[in-house]
Amino acid sequence: MSKRDLEREPQDGDGATATATTEVSSPGRRKVMLAMLAGTSALAAGVGIPTAVFVAAPLSAGAGHGRWVRTVRLDQMKEGEPKRVAIVDDRRDAWSVERAVDLGSAWLVRKGDLVQAFSAVCPHLGCSVNAVPDGGGAFACPCHTSAFDPAGQRTSGPAPRNLDALATRIEDGVVVVEFKRFRIGIHEQVVT
Ligand code: FES
Repeated sequence: MSKRDLEREPQDGDGATATATTEVSSPGRRKVMLAMLAGTSALAAGVGIPTAVFVAAPLSAGAGHGRWVRTVRLDQMKEGEPKRVAIVDDRRDAWSVERAVDLGSAWLVRKGDLVQAFSAVCPHLGCSVNAVPDGGGAFACPCHTSAFDPAGQRTSGPAPRNLDALATRIEDGVVVVEFKRFRIGIHEQVVT
């Protein structure tokens, strides 16, 4: 149903209500009609609940906000050495919760007491990016040979942008990552 349709329907309903009101003449009939209208409104409100959930669910999923996920302890990381971590968290929709779902992975690089994080998804076509063995912290994609330096900057290959950086914070000695997904295959960084 289009927005135009949604806007038009109340207008049609308004006309019907006006006609009905005109035809009600006695106080007794007026009470009956008001009770019927109240019942109809309550029914419409009840029907509206699942509709609102259905519409709101895709909006909240694509709102662009990341989820903060705990990963590894900072003291388990070596300075400057990329470490791949699984992103595991509960997955919720309007009706259910799945516990401890593997949502993806991220690369973490320790810089003293701070941690830099990148999405492990190649921004070209979505393959999983690897750390280059003995590569000084560089990354490479095995699918079409895109390469990235230790700061995540693209150095070669068809990837249209750098690796997607993720925010991090340290909580009680644990690295917490703001996990997000991004659109692949485009120059702009767009959260999905
Ligand atoms: S998917 Fe990574 S270079 Fe194509």
